[in-house]
Amino acid sequence: MRRGREHTPAGVRQDGRVADPRVPELMQIAETIAREAGDLVRANRPDRVDVAGTKSSATDVVTAMDLAVEELIRRRLGELRPDDGVLGEERGLEPGASGLTWVVDPIDGTVNFLYGLPAHAVSVAVVSGDPDPASWTMLAGCVHNIPDATTWTAGAGGGAWQDGRRLPALVDRGLDDALIGTGFGYRADRRRRQGLVAAALLPRVRDIRRMGAASVDLCMVASRALDGYYERGLNPWDMAAGALVVIESGGVVAGLRGRAAGEAMTVCGPPTLVSELIAALEKLDADSDAEL
Ligand code: IPD
Ligand code: CA
Repeated sequence: MRRGREHTPAGVRQDGRVADPRVPELMQIAETIAREAGDLVRANRPDRVDVAGTKSSATDVVTAMDLAVEELIRRRLGELRPDDGVLGEERGLEPGASGLTWVVDPIDGTVNFLYGLPAHAVSVAVVSGDPDPASWTMLAGCVHNIPDATTWTAGAGGGAWQDGRRLPALVDRGLDDALIGTGFGYRADRRRRQGLVAAALLPRVRDIRRMGAASVDLCMVASRALDGYYERGLNPWDMAAGALVVIESGGVVAGLRGRAAGEAMTVCGPPTLVSELIAALEKLDADSDAEL
């Protein structure tokens, strides 16, 4: 993940040429598999979705569909990219031999899926290096929103696309004019603090939205349906594909205090807005779970 406030897209050389010739094929594979996964969910969504288990807390649920979609994605990657590793939300890391790892969220926005709410998506990305946002190089990604099949794709140096239309460069605006997306984690102590941070930010911005799917939030910034977005607690699979979509539409994806975006904090948007948002979040110690 790129750091701080540099503006050269990941995987792109200084002269602007794509650094990795595999990018177009990887973009194609990410999109093909994400669409197939979306088809599986749309064809098999039961009238009533049941919870199959819980993870980090009682509200962090997994459904049979999350598991089935991850199985499908792993099977298809095994056919198309047998030497690559896979890091998936439900089954963890299976390392590969090629140096590339697919970073997969079978359903991002599982609670929305459970309730039949609009934003839930398949997120498929491929990175080189460790599958860790602090050091990976993002190569390609696709976020496929399941209910309406809206599809964002991006390749390092290949631009960002929504449903086949290249996304134009983001437009900057001041924080006080900005519509900001955010999200909340599943643990009560973290949420308590996240609520206080959001309350302190609310009088300083146009408004705040909480859609419930981080990958879609990131892509909505790229599509200018949100001006900016921040969230503490994202996992690599929540952010990998969406972050590349933002970067390839000319945006910045960063953490606080000069760090890379990641679990501690992810902030994205056009460059000046991100600087203002980072300054506000740093003042609020938004990368802490301690009680205020
Ligand atoms: C969650 C969603 C949510 C965000 C959480 C994520 P999941 O992913 O992206 O919007 O606020 O931080 O964990 O659990 O639905 O895949
Ligand atoms: Ca998920």
